[in-house]
Order: sequence, then structure tokens, then C-alpha cells
Amino acid sequence: MIRTRRNRKNSAIRGLIREVLLHPNKLVYPLFLLEDDNGKEEIKTLPNQFRLGLNHIIALINEAAALGVRSFMLFPVVAEKHKTSTADFALQEDMFYYRSMKILKNKFPEFCFISDVALDPYSSDGHDGLVRNGEILNDETLEVLAKMSVLQAESGFDILGPSDMMDGRIGCMREALDLAGYTNTSIMSYCAKYASAMYGPFRDALESAPKSGDKKTYQMDFLNRSEAMRELDSDMEEGADFVMVKPALHYLDIISDFKQNSLLPVAAYHVSGEYAMLKMGAENGLFAYEKAMPETLNAIHRAGADIVISYAALDYALWYSKNHLSPN
Ligand code: PBG
Repeated sequence: MIRTRRNRKNSAIRGLIREVLLHPNKLVYPLFLLEDDNGKEEIKTLPNQFRLGLNHIIALINEAAALGVRSFMLFPVVAEKHKTSTADFALQEDMFYYRSMKILKNKFPEFCFISDVALDPYSSDGHDGLVRNGEILNDETLEVLAKMSVLQAESGFDILGPSDMMDGRIGCMREALDLAGYTNTSIMSYCAKYASAMYGPFRDALESAPKSGDKKTYQMDFLNRSEAMRELDSDMEEGADFVMVKPALHYLDIISDFKQNSLLPVAAYHVSGEYAMLKMGAENGLFAYEKAMPETLNAIHRAGADIVISYAALDYALWYSKNHLSPN
């Protein structure tokens, strides 16, 4: 009889045949940055995550680094009074996002900081692009994104993260960055970003939900798979350095397609709703968080994601440090 159970008979053998194990330095931890350096605010729908001012962010980065997490994604929490339909606040050179990043890069030159390139944090319409008569304007938006990109590169971000899904943005950003001399600033494209129900807690964190309409004319339809390959082709051609699939768990097939069809590193964003489900499911006694969380993040890695972006990054790193020497 063929007995596959022979290879599972003790912990050491299970260790020998283990195929993947996500290492903490492949994790990216998303952070919400407040304008007030000492601010700290709870996010009700995102348990155990906070909007934080620069001083708290610095402390958290030190804590993360001690666990082996050295890459961070930074989102600006923009006060309502700064939001306009043209998102001008994004282009103010002395804006807190740029000011804080300069300090962070100075303090942590060896760590990786990933930006957010999109208009929704700054837009009174809550859309990722400029809106005219209900339409999301593509090419007009690109001009703003290009200017944002240069300001972000100048402030010290290592990688820019366009999350907006406008056509042609990767090429346009690359050209603007190169022209301004930022040839070493990388681009991680939100390449296959789906119009998902899983972004709710993030939009609470930034108070950035669209004021009218939805995002279906720019984010992808969750019924489609091969369309993601068109996004992959164009982003590779336009010069992306990393390609991302978002959300992660409902889109493992897309992650696998990307890994098989590209030599670029593939990132997957385990988004706010996916994280909140784990936390709230555990709080309601459905499963143990310390078991469901590593199962989830390793599933994303096993599907083909080289990089996993998750609000559970620190929880995972702690789990890893406790268990990786003798996992069962
Ligand atoms: C918008 C943006 C979103 C997220 C990152 N950037 C939400 C949206 O498209 O409305 C979601 C991330 C998450 O849910 O954790 N540019």
C-alpha cells in the first residue's frame, strides 16, 4: 500500500518535508500615520490596530524590528478639513506625510518603507482619481500621481505603492521619477486590485469611503481571472519592480498565476477585512487566532506570494519566534 502517512510520523520528519514557511522578513506591516506626532486613536473595525503619530510609529517600528519585521507600508490619515475635490493637500511639500518620512528614513536607513500613491486619502470625493460629473478621470489623475511620486521619492520612500488602478500609471510614474533623478526608487504596483467588500475597515481608518458611486470602473471585477494577466503584462512592460495581488485570501488563484507567469517578486495584500475576520472570528470562539492566523498567512505564501502585507505581521513574527524551532 502507498502510505503517505509515513512522512508525517513525527515532528522532525514533518520538518524535513515542510515545503514553505513564511519568514518574518518577508512581511510588510501597514501603518496609519496621523498628523499629530503624539496622536493615538483606536480603529473600531480593525482590532488592535491604531492611527498613530510619528512618535508612536517610531516605537512600533523598533518593536517590529526586534521580531524581524523590517518593512512597512505607510498610509496618511488626512483630516477632513484638508480634503478637497482636487486633492491638493497631497502636493504640499511640507505636508506631514513627507515630513514624517524624512525623519523615519533618517532614523531607519536600512529598513524598507512603502508609500501609497492614490488620491483617496486626500479627496473629498473618496475616490482614487479626480472626479468630474461622476466619472473618474484617468489621464488628468496621472499628472497628480506623477507629482506625488516625485515628492514621495524625495522624502525617502524606498518603494512607491500605486493603489489607484488608473491605466498607464506605472509608466507615467517611472518616467517622472527618472526625470527627477530618482532612478533608484522602486515601484510596487497594486497590479490586480479587485473591487472587494474586504476594504471596509481600511476606509474607516482613513474615513475615505467613496461619497458616491463605487470603484468598479477602475478596480477589477472579482468574477475575472484572465483579466488579471492583462494587468500583469502592462505593468511588467511599464517597468514595475514588484506586482501585487489584493485582497489575498479570496484570490489565491491569481497569486499563483502571477508567480507562474512573471519573474517579478509577487506581493499579496492580506487586507483589513481579512484581518478583522480572523480577529473577530477568534473573539467569537470560532477558532484560535494563534492557529488560524499562521495558517492564513502561510496559505498566501504557499500559493506563490513572495511578500505578504498584513496587519497580523507582528502577531505572526511573534508566533514564528515562539514556534519555528520546533513547530508541530
Ligand atoms: C485605496 C486603498 C484601499 C486599500 C489600500 N489602498 C481601499 C480602497 O481601494 O478603497 C485597502 C487596504 C485594506 O483594506 O487593508 N487607494
